[in-house]
Amino acid sequence: MIIKSSLHLLGLVLNLAVVCNGGITSPFVRKAEKTVDMPYESDAFQVPHGYNAPQQVHITQGDHKGKAMIVSWVTVDEKGSSKVLFWSEGQKKRMAEGKAKTYTYHDYTSGYIHHCTIRNLEYNTKYYYVVGIGHTERLFWFVTPPEVGPDVTYTFGLMGDLGQTFDSNSTLTHYEENPLKGQTVLNLGDLSYADNHPNHDNVKWDTFGRFIERSAAYQPWIWTAGNHEIDYAPEIGEYKPFKPYTHRYNVPHKASGSPAPFFYSIKRASAYIIVLSSYTAYGKYTPQYQWLEQELPKVNRSETSWLIVLLHSPWYNSYNYHYMEGESMRVMFELWFVQHKVDVVFAGHVHAYERSERVSNIAYNIENGKCSPVVKDQSAPVYITIGDGGNIEGLATNMREPQPDYSAYREASFGHAIFDIKNRTHAFYSWHRNDDGVAVKADSMWFFNRYHHPVDDSTSSQS
Ligand SMILES: *[C@@H]1O[C@H](CO)[C@@H](O)[C@H](O)[C@H]1NC(C)=O
Ligand SMILES: *[C@@H]1O[C@H](CO)[C@@H](O)[C@H](O)[C@H]1NC(C)=O
Ligand SMILES: *[C@@H]1O[C@H](CO)[C@@H](O)[C@H](O)[C@H]1NC(C)=O
Ligand SMILES: [Fe+2]
Repeated sequence: MIIKSSLHLLGLVLNLAVVCNGGITSPFVRKAEKTVDMPYESDAFQVPHGYNAPQQVHITQGDHKGKAMIVSWVTVDEKGSSKVLFWSEGQKKRMAEGKAKTYTYHDYTSGYIHHCTIRNLEYNTKYYYVVGIGHTERLFWFVTPPEVGPDVTYTFGLMGDLGQTFDSNSTLTHYEENPLKGQTVLNLGDLSYADNHPNHDNVKWDTFGRFIERSAAYQPWIWTAGNHEIDYAPEIGEYKPFKPYTHRYNVPHKASGSPAPFFYSIKRASAYIIVLSSYTAYGKYTPQYQWLEQELPKVNRSETSWLIVLLHSPWYNSYNYHYMEGESMRVMFELWFVQHKVDVVFAGHVHAYERSERVSNIAYNIENGKCSPVVKDQSAPVYITIGDGGNIEGLATNMREPQPDYSAYREASFGHAIFDIKNRTHAFYSWHRNDDGVAVKADSMWFFNRYHHPVDDSTSSQS
């Protein structure tokens, strides 16, 4: 009797513990399974048939406002043509010429990696394109974004730390089949995880490229560099950071005045997207610092309502993985994000999901005696960690207890998210775990724009 009621009491206390500090720690427990890479012969990595057939085809935005596309692919038998033939329905065909390069990495030599920028595209138009001209031609298509404007609806997908396991495949399939229909992927970095294999086995970069082609050849993936892109390995004679990544994934950094492909910006529909690099110097006087300082005042919210930042290592993270790794960058830039009313910051790195309250940690200084430095702040972004793409390293399950006040929702499950912009004031955000059917929203929130509609949108205040 006594035992039973005290157990009952314990149950109550445990239940309370789940929700009372800060936000929600999801009670959902995913069954523990090892995350393993799909085998080389897997259907997900299929090599296209035909002599010198282009493989690993992927596209990304090629200019600042969405009227150009960078088309990239790899040929392996010989260099072949770097030309792209492209047209829209009823329009005459045009040809653009790119360039191809190879690189070596320890004992690996890459295929010919082609990049070709096609320009002067019309907005909101379906284009067909062909690569592999002269050998095995392959046809793909994409749709350009609508013209930049404050109320343009547009749907972004979010994936981070994807890798190439069976779980990665499940994440990508869920994204593809999500009825919310993402139009462009914002990728938070850590792509292939080649560096988890002996000598950073760069064949894994090739299989990763073939894996994502089924999505990335048809809609742009916007790239952020993560730590698994560094590939700095002096022990095997590889001294040039980001060598495989920069050869394979081009971005339009020059169009935003950036001196390096690790930090840049694009406008797309009603969003202004700033990509930062957690692994490129950001201290005062560095190129990234100077670039961002000039960049933020350029954002015109009457033109692009939504200000979104992508980076790899999260600033607000309550898991016992990579805890506080983002601190030094937060210290450098957080004040600017609050001043410029960034709507949301997406990060990866931690292999789990977490959404923060709108908080900042800028009031605190070492003299003012404020010992709870993180405060709710309606000018601050929401911070979302979406590093749960499903890579070979597995899930981050170990959380800090109690859940800190800044953390609104956290769960260690694989998944992806959707940021669905409706107009200048509203965007619907949802997170979708792989363990559910494709239409299930495991976490969601209506975002109110910080510039046009700076009303409290926290999920805890709404409930
Ligand atoms: C990967 O996902 C696709 C699409 O759902 C499926 O057709 C394919 O069989 C999967 N491959 C593996 C190795 O799981
Ligand atoms: C901001 O964008 C609006 C809408 O395109 C435009 O009318 C205005 O001139 C721009 N402001 C600046 C300072 O460029
Ligand atoms: C913006 O979108 C939201 C959500 O769909 C809607 O409730 C609101 O009325 C829209 N605002 C305008 C001005 O259309
Ligand atoms: Fe990472």
